[in-house]
Formats: sequence, structure tokens, C-alpha cells
Amino acid sequence: MTIIVTGGAGFIGSNFIFHMLDKYPSYRIICLDCLTYAGNLSTLEPVMDNPNFRFAKISITDRNAVYKLFEEEHPDIVVNFAAESHVDRSIENPEVFLDTNIKGTAVLMDACRKYGIQRYHQVSTDEVYGDLPLDRPDLFFTEETPIHTSSPYSSSKAAADLLVLAYYRTYGLPVSISRCSNNYGPYHFPEKLIPLMIANALNDKPLPVYGKGENVRDWLYVEDHCKAIDLIIHKGRVGEVYNVGGHNEMQNIDIVKLICKELGKPESLITYVADRKGHDMRYAIDPTKIHSELGWLPETKFADGIKKTIQWYLDNKEWWETIISGEYQNYYEKMYGNR
Ligand code: NAD
Ligand code: DAU
Repeated sequence: MTIIVTGGAGFIGSNFIFHMLDKYPSYRIICLDCLTYAGNLSTLEPVMDNPNFRFAKISITDRNAVYKLFEEEHPDIVVNFAAESHVDRSIENPEVFLDTNIKGTAVLMDACRKYGIQRYHQVSTDEVYGDLPLDRPDLFFTEETPIHTSSPYSSSKAAADLLVLAYYRTYGLPVSISRCSNNYGPYHFPEKLIPLMIANALNDKPLPVYGKGENVRDWLYVEDHCKAIDLIIHKGRVGEVYNVGGHNEMQNIDIVKLICKELGKPESLITYVADRKGHDMRYAIDPTKIHSELGWLPETKFADGIKKTIQWYLDNKEWWETIISGEYQNYYEKMYGNR
């Protein structure tokens, strides 16, 4: 079995590669990644010498390079993690989100059609469903919830999902889609809420909370997401969408306070800043379908997962300090000022 994992130098893709190489020693895993600001080759160091692993520095928008890789590797499965993934960046500059997330998805699926494939899996997001009100805790996103996006990021992911379903219906491409809630864990890029708060708290810097910090996200430990995708590509039905989520809703402010507590830092570091434009209020996934069809359940409790995550950032300072001391500083200053 040969699997092309796109975006494998990023947060979830790298965790997925580690999971697959560990669980399936006979599989060949090819990481296709063009190493944007969010891609980090040092993350993949532990598997670089594995004879079943290959890294290919290619953009999913580069049709010729993608086709060449398919000719060389004859993949059985493609799992597409590659994307521009940060909502705030999509608000500042939507264009690259359209190129990568929409065009890149089409290029990959064209390659799958041309060379033949057992499965094309699209890693999507709960953000395609828009948001839920805070005062209706009885409401959850199911696979039937209409697409109703808020940001350029989520709109580009929704467009990609619609293309994937169109390639299934029009060309019979064997596709599947997973729509997961917020992940957290090792190798999470420090622009995102949890790693940003951990890094800032460790550096005694202000902890910038958008608006009132009341927004709710449904947090899932990254390994649980990887296990869900593993199940879907092996046992999930073709042409289907599977929601993935941990029934673990938390307000942002409670997460930030918990990080302060775990690190022994004062809550006085918390600074309320201007809200994100079009900020989604609440995400909450109903994972009944993946549970009843494939037996998937989240295994890591948030209380344990957040401890493991904080410990990972303490043990791997070099990884994130290298990132935040580079080009990232310009982004940070633009977003949060010189704090
Ligand atoms: P990330 O930003 O950490 O990593 C993205 C990776 O994609 C990077 O390695 C980057 O170099 C690569 N990439 C970007 N553009 C590329 C291109 N044109 N060609 C090849 N590689 C390219 O993202 P992440 O948080 O790991 O998210 C991975 C996927 O999961 C995305 O599709 C995202 O929409 C989806 N997702 C993320 C979450 C989450 O909480 N992080 C939740 C649900 C779904
Ligand atoms: O739900 C899945 C999505 O989760 C994925 O599709 C996205 O790729 C991923 O980035 C994530 O999107 P969010 O916008 O939910 O994640 P982020 O970490 O950017 O923000 C989480 C919440 O924290 C959100 O309500 C905004 C808030 N926030 C974020 C940052 C970076 C702050 O209050 N302060 C901050 O500095």
C-alpha cells in the first residue's frame, strides 16, 4: 500500500504520518508538501531515514509536478491535508486560500482520475457548517447540516468539499471527506490559540483573547483525529462525509485560564483584544455517524491531552522558538502589535 499524504510537514499531517508508519510498517508513505510558513521539515526528522518514507517538496497546485510524482509512486490512497489553515490569515489575504485549498484539491483529484486510485480522502473542517448560537447547547453539526461559511478560509474549504463530491458524482472518483473540529497536540503551529497561549505564557507575554473570550470550540486531541482518518480510508464508505469531534466544548477564556494554571502563570497576563472579523461563535460536532458505522470514539480526555500538549511544548522549546524567532515575528507584530 502506497499513500501520498499532502501537507505532511504541518501539524495534523505530520502526526498522521507518524501514526501510519508506526501502525502499518509495510506501508509506503510519501509526504507531498511545498513547505509554506506552516510546513517544517524538522518535524519529519524522526522518519526521514525510514526506508518506507519519502519527502517530496511539491505544491499541490503544480499540476506537472503532482502528475510526475503519481507516475513515480503509483499511490493507492491520497490523503489531502495540504491547505492554508489559519482563519486570521485568510481574513488578511484570501487569495492564496483559493489557490491552495480549491485549485490544489482539483489538481490532486485530476491526478487521481488520470492515474487511478483506491481512495482520495479530503481532510475538511467543521467550519464549513458555519457556527451555532451560544444559547442553543442542544444544537450540533451533523453531516446533513447545510454548508454556511463565515470566513474566506472556511469558504475555500467548503468549495473544495463541493468539488470532491462533484468528482464523485461526475467521474465516479472514490472519495471520502472528514469534517473535524479543533485539534490540539504536538507540532501545532504557534499562531493557533493553544500553542500561542502556551508560548506567550512561557515568555511572560500578554495572552491576547479575542472579544470577550466566550467563543466555543470543540477540542480533539490530534491523535484521535488521525485514528479517525485511518478508519475512514480503510473502512469508510466511498462518497460519504464523516464528522469527527470529541464532544469537548470549551470557551476560549477557560482554555487560556487552564493554560495559566498548568504553567503557574498569573491570569493578569490575559489581555482582551479586538475581536476577529466575522468570528464564529460556537462549533459542536455530532460524531454519531463515525461512531455507529466505524466504531470511532475519542480516546484522549481533554484534561490529559492538554497536560501532554503543554509538556510537549516544554520539552520541545527549540521547535517552536525557532519558528517564533523567524519570519513569524512580522506576522505577530501585524496581528497583535509590538507586545
Ligand atoms: P498546518 O497549517 O499546520 O499545515 C498545513 C501544511 O500544508 C503545511 O505543512 C504546509 O506547508 C502545507 N501546504 C500548504 N500549502 C501547500 C501547497 N500548496 N502544496 C503542498 N503543501 C502545502 O495545517 P493543519 O492544522 O495541520 O491542518 C491540516 C488540514 O486539516 C487542513 O486541510 C485543515 O483545513 C484541516 N483541519 C485542521 C483542523 C485544526 O484544528 N488544525 C481541524 C479540522 C481540519
Ligand atoms: O474547527 C476547525 C478549525 O480549527 C480548523 O479548520 C482550522 O484550520 C483551525 O485553525 C481552527 O480554527 P479556529 O479559528 O477555531 O482556531 P484558532 O486557534 O485560530 O482560534 C481558536 C479560537 O481562539 C477562536 O475562537 C479564536 C480565538 N483566538 C485565537 C487566537 C489565535 C483568540 O482569542 N486569540 C488568539 O490569539
